[in-house]
Amino acid sequence: MEQLRIRGGGRISGELKASGAKNSALKLFAGALLANEPVTISNVPHLRDITTMIELLGSLGVEVVVDERMKVEIHANTINCFKAPYDLVKTMRASFNVLGPMLAHYGHGEVSLPGGCAIGSRPVDQHLKGLKALGAKIDMQHGYVSASVKGRLKGAHIVFDFNTVGGTEHLMMTATLAEGTTVLANCAQEPEIVDLAEFLNGLGAKISGAGTSTIVIEGVSELTGGQHTVISDRIECGTYLIAAAATGGYIKINGAQPSLNSALLQKLEEAGAELKLTDDSIELDMHGARPKAVSIITAPYPGFPTDLQAQIMAMNCIAEGSAMIQETIFENRFMHVPELKRMDADISLDGNQTTAVVKGVNRLVGAPVMATDLRASVSLVIAGLVADGETLVDRIYHIDRGYQQVEEKLKNLGVEISRHSY
Ligand code: EPZ
Repeated sequence: MEQLRIRGGGRISGELKASGAKNSALKLFAGALLANEPVTISNVPHLRDITTMIELLGSLGVEVVVDERMKVEIHANTINCFKAPYDLVKTMRASFNVLGPMLAHYGHGEVSLPGGCAIGSRPVDQHLKGLKALGAKIDMQHGYVSASVKGRLKGAHIVFDFNTVGGTEHLMMTATLAEGTTVLANCAQEPEIVDLAEFLNGLGAKISGAGTSTIVIEGVSELTGGQHTVISDRIECGTYLIAAAATGGYIKINGAQPSLNSALLQKLEEAGAELKLTDDSIELDMHGARPKAVSIITAPYPGFPTDLQAQIMAMNCIAEGSAMIQETIFENRFMHVPELKRMDADISLDGNQTTAVVKGVNRLVGAPVMATDLRASVSLVIAGLVADGETLVDRIYHIDRGYQQVEEKLKNLGVEISRHSY
């Protein structure tokens, strides 16, 4: 096991380069299974989840070549196995999204059910409902979902019951090779969905409306090869911006697209940050001031992202005033609260555990704490930055799933941080 040791009290100051978006790259890799020829994906972040996805494609017989700059070439037509095993799917839910592309391209596929995870039960009913509507025969046996179709899938009109990012991406990809037109209504609108649509259109798909609530897909008979560059990781950018704001510091993030983070940037201004934005950089300066508390309600894009909820809560723990944090996307995404309280944060949760009231204290105190999921764990790192003394964050394999070179990046921003194995 590994842990991060952080000495708090300093101010963040410096520049960094944004990484490619994990939650986009994972879906692009699944989408590559639709292509008849090699595809090349650049700006892929070097992360554990990406390695897991590459391993998964490898287990299907797909040839994947990675160069030293994380440019990844995927030859989907070498596929010789159509079953994604439990051992890989259980560690990463995004791997469920290989089912539709295998089905659409090769007529069948079998994927382990992803099951629940720490932040909630996370069913896949919307994915399966859509695949059925496209003509797939779905069977569930021994924890696996198998999908098959005789001939091609058929376009359909599908209305999601609620916004689902993975569900929208999964059906959008699958419908590219269906016969006729598919209309997806009540879609999620996250930027990663737009990135996936652009990637697929570059391979010959005909998708319009991605990034709005209605997506229309004119099915084509095949997708060719092509190249694509992954968009920047808005959640990674947001995390470092919040870290800088919490410490009263300064940061410039190059390669970041401000338009993808509007909800957060508005809240950071409310917290007292001075922002300077260009098309591909974000500069934040707190001029040494303590942040003001800001209330948020998580919501599907363009609302405040659930993936930044834990981090903004950490900032609020030492902010001036009180804030209310309401989580509406996942039912169990407050696992950082007991850990933050170990550091003397003043947080109370309502009976339903969906709303937290945070009263800012002057300083947190360093303590040993435990990471429970990706975003919760990085919120503990932020808390460590504004705590007196030393904070030890345990189980940091969660952080390595989604933050490339986290301690190197923080060290470059002036943070005293080190990684230890035990
Ligand atoms: C994506 O998960 C992201 N993961 C998550 O990022 C992110 O938190 C989430 O979208 C919301 O923005 C990836 O892109 C790999 P959903 P996803 O389907 O697609 C329920 C991170 O930290 N639901 O939009 O799985 C579901 O349980 C992560 O990087 C159903 O009930 O999220 C949840 O409550 C974690 N049935 C809500 O919908 C379904 O069929 C939204 O989930 C599908 C979803």
